[in-house]
Amino acid sequence: MKIAVIGAGLIGTSWAIVFARAGFSVNLTDIDQSRLGAAENHLARIRNLKQNGRSGTVTFCPTLATAVAGVDLVQECGPETVELKRQIFAELDKHAPEGALLASSSSSIVASLFTGDLRGRHRCLIAHPLNPPHLAPLVELCGAPWTSPGVITRAKEIYEDAGQAPIVINEEIEGFVLNRLQAAVLAEALRLVGDGIISAEDLDKTVSEGLGLRWSFLGPFATIELNAPGGIEDYLRRYGGAFQNITATPPSSEVWASANIERVVESWGKKRSAEQLAARSAWRDRRLEALRQHKQSQDNLMKE
Ligand SMILES: NC(=O)c1ccc[n+]([C@@H]2O[C@H](COP(=O)([O-])OP(=O)(O)OC[C@H]3O[C@@H](n4cnc5c(N)ncnc54)[C@H](O)[C@@H]3O)[C@@H](O)[C@H]2O)c1
Repeated sequence: MKIAVIGAGLIGTSWAIVFARAGFSVNLTDIDQSRLGAAENHLARIRNLKQNGRSGTVTFCPTLATAVAGVDLVQECGPETVELKRQIFAELDKHAPEGALLASSSSSIVASLFTGDLRGRHRCLIAHPLNPPHLAPLVELCGAPWTSPGVITRAKEIYEDAGQAPIVINEEIEGFVLNRLQAAVLAEALRLVGDGIISAEDLDKTVSEGLGLRWSFLGPFATIELNAPGGIEDYLRRYGGAFQNITATPPSSEVWASANIERVVESWGKKRSAEQLAARSAWRDRRLEALRQHKQSQDNLMKE
């Protein structure tokens, strides 16, 4: 399997790790050659590029046209603007082999906003990862109205072969699913802290010491299935009314306004330098790697 990764920033470099450790050949390119150099150094420092004994290659390519030669899938990781995605996809459609799938890592821009004019628009889709994809396997696959169903099926197979966990979103929606769920939780968190109901630190604890423990291996439906003797329906009949009351007044758009942001930042209280944030990101990645390995070691138990 041969993959081109376009854009060697945070996400592109991490995708290169995903595909290389699955044994694929990866061509990585960036319009800014210094980013390519930085990615080369970063990848050289990562020892764990093997998965199940497989190990692929990463080739650094000077141009997009050379990077896409002979590939099966392109993973676009350029900046999150409609105009740049439109430009990059026009080039990809021109240079990539006819049969190659063209996937964008876009976090919230849907594919129909930048692929409509392309001859090969049927082969374009979104494949949105979590940051960083080499530690968090979820990939949201979402086609435009003109994406062929076979392209989604093929993409699902490729990401599964790469060791990722693809899900399919049936219709375009802004923010896809992951960021919509994140937005709902964040809006309520901003309201509770902004209104002084709880401190930012204790709010985070309700996830890190509570909800998040179950959520690291069960979704919200699998969670409630076990919280009433008769499963999901029983749970919703017993507690649905209470949840309906709680959600009858959703957080207003005011939770995102400056005045509320100031209250939340004050409650958070911590001011970290760029170096401290980088060290904390590295700590997060080590914890994620340990969790990933733990989950993989439990694979048989996880199935039931
Ligand atoms: N950062 C995240 O948490 C996250 C998570 C999921 C998805 N994404 C998405 O992934 C994509 C990349 O995000 P990122 O955080 O890696 O950004 P980034 O700024 O770190 O990297 C973008 C890279 O694209 C390069 N680039 C710009 N124009 C180009 C072109 N014409 N050809 C080739 N390379 C070009 C830039 O030089 C840069 O190195 C975005 O669409 C973003 O929304 C980001």
